[in-house]
Parts: sequence; structure tokens; C-alpha cells
Amino acid sequence: MANVIEDFFKSVVHHEALPLEEVYTFLDEALQDQMEFIPLMERHHGHIEESIAVLMSKDALEMEKQDHLFRFFRLLEMHGKAEEEVLYTALQHNSDKSPRVLGFAALDEHDLAFRLERELLEMGYRDSWNDEIEAKAKVVANLVRNHIKEEENEIFPLAEKLISTSHLELMSMNYIEKCKIYLNDSLQTSISRPVVRTPPAGSMYPH
Ligand SMILES: [Fe+2]
Repeated sequence: MANVIEDFFKSVVHHEALPLEEVYTFLDEALQDQMEFIPLMERHHGHIEESIAVLMSKDALEMEKQDHLFRFFRLLEMHGKAEEEVLYTALQHNSDKSPRVLGFAALDEHDLAFRLERELLEMGYRDSWNDEIEAKAKVVANLVRNHIKEEENEIFPLAEKLISTSHLELMSMNYIEKCKIYLNDSLQTSISRPVVRTPPAGSMYPH
């Protein structure tokens, strides 16, 4: 009996994720506290990874995957676009070749993820769910998971080496302002407006 209860709680915890409103609230706090750029981006990676875990999971319900795919793309839009404009632009203008190539490659990976988002929207993932949608969701989740690993292992340490502390501080403020705009826009636009249906019990993020 103890094992059954333990397994139940493990599965519940596994699918928990920070609601998007709280991600937005935290941006204000990060601005006030002048949070460092790289740790803040790593924190946002963590929020994206919460949804990746559900999308890659064998035991998550289809409805959970559908909701997490929506959450995943909202966070990807927020973090990804702000990161492109603040960090990738800086790398692409560096005097050395290696950071420039890394910056362009990372941008290509974002483009691939956003292309898959458009395909998933055309397949109607907000209204229904099927095996093809689930497979494509898994592909994009895996792509972003590998991209995050590459950033944290290669791009972020390089940025800390190449960019001065004072410039990183400015980049952090700029990044947060952009995140606020993108997250807000993303939640308001009709293309990402959630479908009207009863949310699953215990849902942790807005519908
Ligand atoms: Fe990133």
C-alpha cells in the first residue's frame, strides 16, 4: 500500500509546473533584484524542462501533454526570442569566429522549433490530440532539450568569458524587459489563445 501511495505522489510531482502568471511575476522580482543574466536564463530553461519532462513521459495523460505543449511554446517564445535579441545578437557580432558560428547555429535551432510549432498548430493540437501530434511534440521537446544542454555547457560559459560583468548586467535588464513583453503578447494573441474546455483537475497553469 505504501508503494502505491508513493508512486501516486511521484507521478503528481512529476507533472507539476510553475504557472505562467508566476513566471511573469517572477520577472518583476528579477528586475527589482537585478538578477544575474545567466542564472536567470538557466531558471527559464528549468521552467521549459518541466514541460519537456511531461512531453517525453510515457505515463502522462494526453490532456496533460496537450496543456504542457501550449505552456512549452509560450515559454519558448518568451525566453527564446528575448535570448535571440540579447545574447545571440551579441555573439553574432563578436570579433571571433567561434562565438559567431555558435550564435547563428543556436538561432537556426530556435527557428526549427518555431517551425514545428506552426506545423503543430496547423495539425490543430489545441483542439485535439492524436499519435502524429504526440510524435511531433516529442521531436520538438527533444530538440529543445538538446539545445538547452548545448547552451548551458557551451554557449553560457563562453558568454561569461567573452562579455564583461557590467555588460552582462545590462543584458539581464534588457532580457527581462523583453521577456515581459513576449510573455504578455504570447498570452494575448489569438493564435495562442487556449481552447475553451474544462481543465484537468489540479492543473498548475492558466487555460
Ligand atoms: Fe536558452
